[in-house]
Amino acid sequence: MLDEVTAVRDSGLQRIELATSLDEIDRLDAELLGKKGAFASFKTSLASLATVDEKKAAGQALNAAAATITGAIGARRVVLAAAERTRVLAAERLDLTEELTAPRRGHAHLVTQAWERLEDVFIGLGFQVAEGPEVETDFYNFEALNMPRSHPARSGFDTLFTDYRDDGSVLLRTHTSPVQIRVMQTVEPPIYMIMPGRVFRRDTPDATHMPVFHQIEGLVIDRDITMAHLAGTIDAFTKAFFGGAFTSRLRPNYFPFTEPSAEFDIQRPDGTWIELGGCGMVHPNVLRAGGLDPEQWSGFAFGFGIDRMARERHGVEDIRDMYSNDIRFVEQF
Ligand code: PHE
Repeated sequence: MLDEVTAVRDSGLQRIELATSLDEIDRLDAELLGKKGAFASFKTSLASLATVDEKKAAGQALNAAAATITGAIGARRVVLAAAERTRVLAAERLDLTEELTAPRRGHAHLVTQAWERLEDVFIGLGFQVAEGPEVETDFYNFEALNMPRSHPARSGFDTLFTDYRDDGSVLLRTHTSPVQIRVMQTVEPPIYMIMPGRVFRRDTPDATHMPVFHQIEGLVIDRDITMAHLAGTIDAFTKAFFGGAFTSRLRPNYFPFTEPSAEFDIQRPDGTWIELGGCGMVHPNVLRAGGLDPEQWSGFAFGFGIDRMARERHGVEDIRDMYSNDIRFVEQF
C-alpha cells in the first residue's frame, strides 16, 4: 500500500504542476482529496491492514502524502489565479492612447456652405434672416405675388401640387418669393431681410436642373426706396461675396411681382458673365397683398439660386453630383 500511496502522490504532483486552469485544479482536488477521492479510498483500506504498526506507518505516510498534495494544490492555485487575473485584465484593457491620428472630421455640404456664406454676407450688410414653409398655398406662391389664377406666368413655374384638397390650392413652393408676403404681413417696415430655403419644380434632373433646389430671396421695404438702392445692394453683395474684382449689372426682364423687373448678372475679373437671378421694385399689388400701403412704402426684391452659387464657386460640372451623396465627391469641397 505504501508504494501505491507514493505512486498516487507523485503522479498527482505531476498533474498539479501541469494543470493550466483553476477548473483543472478543482477537478484534481476532488479526484485526489475529495470524499470519493484516491486518499479517501486509501483510508478505507487502512482497516484491512493486519497490524497496528502497519496501520500506523501507512496512516502517517497517507497523511504526509495528502499534506504534500494539499500544499501543491494551494501553491498551484495561487499561480493560476494570478495568471488568470493578468489574462482578464489584458483582455479588458481599454487603451485610450492607441488612436494616434485624430479621427477625420466631416464638414457641411457644399450647398450648406454656400447658404451659410450668403447669410453671413447679407447679415454683414445689415439684413436679417427669415424662413417660410416649403408647402405653400396658391395664395402665397402666386396670387399675392400678382399672379392670379389666369396669369400666364404661372405656367413657367412647373409647379408640383399636393393632392391635399385636390384643387391645386396647396403646393410645394416654386420659389422663395412667398416668404416676402409672409414677412410683410408680420414685420413692421422698415424691412431688410433675406429668406433662404428649399424650392421645388417639376423638372427632370439634368446637368443644370434639379426638381429640388435652393434659393435666397431678399426684400427691402422702406420709405423712398429706388432702383438705385437695388443696384447698389446687388453690387455691394457681389463684391462682398465674390471679391472686389467682380462687378454686377441689371438687364431688363419681366416678373409679375416686380415692376420694373430685371435680371442681374455678375462679371468675373476675366470679363465673362454669370447670370445670377431676378430682381425688381416690389409691385404695388404685392405691397397691398402684404398689407402695406404703396403710397407710403416702396421696396425692392431679388432672388437667386444657392445651388448655382455653389456650382459656380467650385466649378461643379453636373449639378446632380452635388446630390448623389457620393462621399468621394462631397468630401472634396
Ligand atoms: N422668384 C423669382 C424666381 O424664382 C426670382 C425673383 C425674386 C425675381 C424676387 C424678382 C424678385 O424666378
